[in-house]
Amino acid sequence: MCGIVGYIGEKQAYPILIDALKRLEYRGYDSSGVSIIDQQKPEMVIRKSQGKIIHLEELIKSHPLPPSTIGICHTRWATHGMPNNVNAHPHKDCSGKIVVVHNGIIENYEELKNALLKKGHTFLSQTDTEVVAHLVEEHYQGDIFKAVQKTVKQLKGAFALGILCLDDPKTLIAARVGSPLIIGIGKNENFIASDVPAILQHTKKVIYLKEGELAKIQKDKVQIFDFNGKAVSFKVDKVTLKVDTVQKQGYPHFMLKEIHEQPHVLTQMFRHCLKPKAVSLDEIGLSDKQLKDMTQIFIVACGTAYHAGMVGKYLIELLAGIPVAIDVSSEFRYRTPIIGKKTLVLAISQSGETADTLAAIKEAKAKGAKIVSICNVVGSSLARISDGVLYTHAGPEIGVASTKAYTAQLGVLYLLAIKLGLAHKTLSPKNASLLMKDLKQIPSLYARILKDKHTIERIAEQNAHFGCFLFLGRNINYPSALEGALKLKEISYIPAEGYAAGEMKHGPIALIDEYRAVICLAPESDLYEKMISNIQEIRSRKGKVIALATEGDAIIHAHADHVIYVPKTNKLLTPLLMALPLQMIAYYIAVKRGCDVDQPRNLAKSVTVE
Ligand code: G6P
Repeated sequence: MCGIVGYIGEKQAYPILIDALKRLEYRGYDSSGVSIIDQQKPEMVIRKSQGKIIHLEELIKSHPLPPSTIGICHTRWATHGMPNNVNAHPHKDCSGKIVVVHNGIIENYEELKNALLKKGHTFLSQTDTEVVAHLVEEHYQGDIFKAVQKTVKQLKGAFALGILCLDDPKTLIAARVGSPLIIGIGKNENFIASDVPAILQHTKKVIYLKEGELAKIQKDKVQIFDFNGKAVSFKVDKVTLKVDTVQKQGYPHFMLKEIHEQPHVLTQMFRHCLKPKAVSLDEIGLSDKQLKDMTQIFIVACGTAYHAGMVGKYLIELLAGIPVAIDVSSEFRYRTPIIGKKTLVLAISQSGETADTLAAIKEAKAKGAKIVSICNVVGSSLARISDGVLYTHAGPEIGVASTKAYTAQLGVLYLLAIKLGLAHKTLSPKNASLLMKDLKQIPSLYARILKDKHTIERIAEQNAHFGCFLFLGRNINYPSALEGALKLKEISYIPAEGYAAGEMKHGPIALIDEYRAVICLAPESDLYEKMISNIQEIRSRKGKVIALATEGDAIIHAHADHVIYVPKTNKLLTPLLMALPLQMIAYYIAVKRGCDVDQPRNLAKSVTVE
């Protein structure tokens, strides 16, 4: 949520900053801004614009920036104050010498603002961020680093900050609590960014700034301190990401590219983790004995990751016989879950930076639970505070609506459930082998679904005019229905509800008439007939039915208006297969309706504020 980039070096800062900022646009895109130091005059120059980064670029074309080799920039997801030019970052102090970009929320900003107003500071925006600029100004006595150090000690909440001061045009300052920030190390140039892909084409050497750290960055030197000003040691990591993984590679949208990457992601995962008679999850951080001793599991996650977790609950309870409770992170953190030393908390998060999930984990840890996270971003905050990490290794997911990260989370949950089932001896080695064999087939079944994408595209387009969709599923595909509805509403803005099909009569049936479309998940399963009964109830009320069924099912055509077939597989694995057509239905409907698929309104990919 909000993207920050900073540059200091020998090259022209603006082209580097704007290019890097565009790679962070998935984090927020309601307004953006840049600030550079005009070293000739000298003068601090700021340009800001409402809307996407392209508007900032247009503004700078008509109002060019002077040459400069140091600057910071920001793309915003509004929390405090409307998305407009005034509230866009960077924010400056009264003198105009100090500028700040910020990701996160300064929770005590009102108290600080009132005190600063009393001291005569003039505020221009409604943001929480502007207090930081004025507070630094208040502490500034010729040493910008010391002023920032005093400032960060007064801030409460979450923040990643990038700060420049006109009096010290050779220094870029960064600080972090909660929100992520990295430092990129180049040759005679250094960077700051909210995420690695922003600076990947300039350097692969990065420092992950830790909680409560402050960095003083010059073009050939980086120093890191704690908030008391004590120098701390740091490690420079080499990232292995490739530049092309953060490009569209010919696809019209990142979302479509990421949908097509799913066979590859799962092939790699299963090749690495499925051994002849065992599941290898190297980084789980718990011994088989510890896994065996676990008597209860809690799953916490948000959004799509929560739906993956729901599938995980069905799987773990069925295969390993361990009771599993699941909560959205924002609920878990504010209630009193009963947690003991034999509780395993599984946190699922693509980004590993979701504020509610991080807070939930901290609560659970304090109560003595072991934490294993399922995470996509290597080195993320969640990964670092967990006892073990099961990386999904899906590669950077840029489309705001999650696709490949979801099926990769499911993949890991299948592996974990098998491992737990074997450890608890509730799953026989023979049944485990059969399931593992079926899992290995999933990527080739994905390839078949993708090959027939035009059928899905046609059906999606024929139904794109409906003003409301209902998604129904049962048992292990109930979460699939929730995820299908979430995908559709996220990117097409069509009201869509996911329901357990058995609950249809308890409310949603009232919605059904000829103006509603109902997507019914009806793969081969023990509850297939029950789903057919639901479909009949919908049809007799004139609702349009799009059924997702198993290849070879000849009966379904008599009941549904449209049928999308998925290949036959083990019944337990059907959520993996259902995911693809559901993603594609949402995608093609959104495209047909002219929506911005990769950057849907009001959303952000990484929700680093509560
Ligand atoms: C946001 C995104 C969703 C995502 C959720 C959880 O709401 O728009 O796509 O599922 O955050 O994110 P996480 O990174 O924790 O999986």
